[in-house]
Amino acid sequence: MCGIVGYIGKEQAAPILLDGLSKLEYRGYDSAGIAVFNGTSIEMTKSTGKLKILEELTQGGATLPGNMGIGHTRWATHGSPSDINAHPHFNKEHSIAIVHNGIIENYQKLKKHMEKRGYEFLSETDTEVLAHMLDYYYNGDPVETITKVMHRVEGSYGLGIMFLDQPDCLYAARKDSPLIVGQSDKGNFIASDVPAVLKYTREVYYIQNEEIACLKNDSITFFNIDKEEIEKELTTIEWDVAAAEKGGYEFFMLKEIYEQPKAVRDTLNPRIKGNDIVIEELGMTDEDIRAVRKIYLVACGSAYHTCVAAKYVFEGLARIPVEVDLASEFRYRKPIFEEGAMAVIVSQSGETADSLAALREAKNNGVRTLGIVNVVGSSIAREADNVIYTWAGPEIAVATTKGYSTQLIAHYLLAVKFARVRGTISAKEMTEMVEALKCLPEQIEFLLANKERIQKFANRYLATEHVFFIGRGIDYAISLEGSLKLKEISYIHSEAYAAGELKHGTISLIEEGTLVTAVLTQDDLYQKSISNVQEVRTRGAFVLAVTNTGHTEVEKSADYVIYIPQTNKYFTPSLAVIPLQLFGYYISLGRGLDVDKPRNLAKSVTVE
Ligand code: F6R
Repeated sequence: MCGIVGYIGKEQAAPILLDGLSKLEYRGYDSAGIAVFNGTSIEMTKSTGKLKILEELTQGGATLPGNMGIGHTRWATHGSPSDINAHPHFNKEHSIAIVHNGIIENYQKLKKHMEKRGYEFLSETDTEVLAHMLDYYYNGDPVETITKVMHRVEGSYGLGIMFLDQPDCLYAARKDSPLIVGQSDKGNFIASDVPAVLKYTREVYYIQNEEIACLKNDSITFFNIDKEEIEKELTTIEWDVAAAEKGGYEFFMLKEIYEQPKAVRDTLNPRIKGNDIVIEELGMTDEDIRAVRKIYLVACGSAYHTCVAAKYVFEGLARIPVEVDLASEFRYRKPIFEEGAMAVIVSQSGETADSLAALREAKNNGVRTLGIVNVVGSSIAREADNVIYTWAGPEIAVATTKGYSTQLIAHYLLAVKFARVRGTISAKEMTEMVEALKCLPEQIEFLLANKERIQKFANRYLATEHVFFIGRGIDYAISLEGSLKLKEISYIHSEAYAAGELKHGTISLIEEGTLVTAVLTQDDLYQKSISNVQEVRTRGAFVLAVTNTGHTEVEKSADYVIYIPQTNKYFTPSLAVIPLQLFGYYISLGRGLDVDKPRNLAKSVTVE
């Protein structure tokens, strides 16, 4: 999604803006622009395409001198990617400049109002309406003007604003779109995400909904939408720049695949005390846990796939009925919430618009909400009744890997905890499960150390056009993720099917040479899945099987077998997903694609 950076201070703003925007490139964008106040006017350069073009056009920022500026990378929603639609946008006199993340939902209506008042629109964006509204309401008091506009717009926004007649102050405001303020000796910053400012400062304020910030060289003031000054707490970012840089890897995705043992350990260890699981941040007593009658697991994309896997775990271990929902469906389907329902919203970024809306839907219906979130202080983390953080660290590659793996861990911890408290597993079983969980990081390391077999296999399939992923039970959940990982970064058509469903239509697509990846980690379903492997093989499929060490029988039916170490049957997704992630990665790499920034995709989907 779009990225925002703003700076005011002693340094030249433009190089800082370009540098900050480069740290947000991972979010996905199709055009970029910066505007700088040069002492007499606000000058701007913007361009379609990569940031490199903007850097060349501005000679690394040298053509735009000045100490205050705003910058933006745009991911087109309203209007095509073009120079004219790129941000910043201006009022007619070029005395107000604005960058915007999010969507103004009532912009058509507002645009008509402004057109009636004589304003002309140059772009197709929803953002331009904000520039003209700021102009219309401007009375020399920026905070009052900004609140007037905020009162009139519906939707989401993170905003950076400059007024020509306020040369010593940069303004920011937000609603439902992330925005932070960074503070340093050399000046102050705004950004839509922490990595943009980490090179300059670790001291940040999180701007909350309907708040405004006024940044000067050496001071920052915050206001609420009623124009009252408010105090905010400074947060120190603990992770460092290196964590957000590639560290010698060709792509962030591979780096993040390799960070999974650590991320899993960091998510697991603080919650394991001896043989017990202690999740202090859960905020639920044993009595609360026993009172849960139904769990809704809600998320998007890969996070949703962790929920599909977790349904088997919660229902199998804790015997609690679980409904799994795509957040985009949940928010509109009017679920029938019963007494004792609880909603778990899972999100790496904590900013996914549909997941946030689903959370609010549950909350508005009096349902207890729990966030499983990676980004500290993100919207979902703040708004959920309680939050379990996944300690994956910053995830930069668009395709999630360590985010997914740590979400699985949070689900396991919860399910095992719930099961023990509700008495559906014994103390001995719990101890065995805790031991199995503790082994996962090392087992992932083992799989990563043997990545060459997958790499070799992937290199043989670079030209393939269709791939099917099949599995039963929790293996179906793993197949969903394997399929998404492949298609999103390699652009190869792939589909995941519950293996028993093949005969109901899909098998007609199998022909000589079609690649089928079969996941077989569940003992009770092993023979049935082997039958499905045989069915596709006799129709010409080439079968890659992923199964547990020792399950050699599949070798008779599959063409290529990857073995994963033995673990508890509910925890196999954590291991089986590793070769599938590597498969997707090496196919994308082999096809010469931009692994970290697949076309049309954004890291954090903050619009509906
Ligand atoms: C796929 C991927 C996406 C995200 C989805 C939800 O690799 O990363 O499918 O899982 O957009 O994002 P979060 O977890 O940030 O809510």
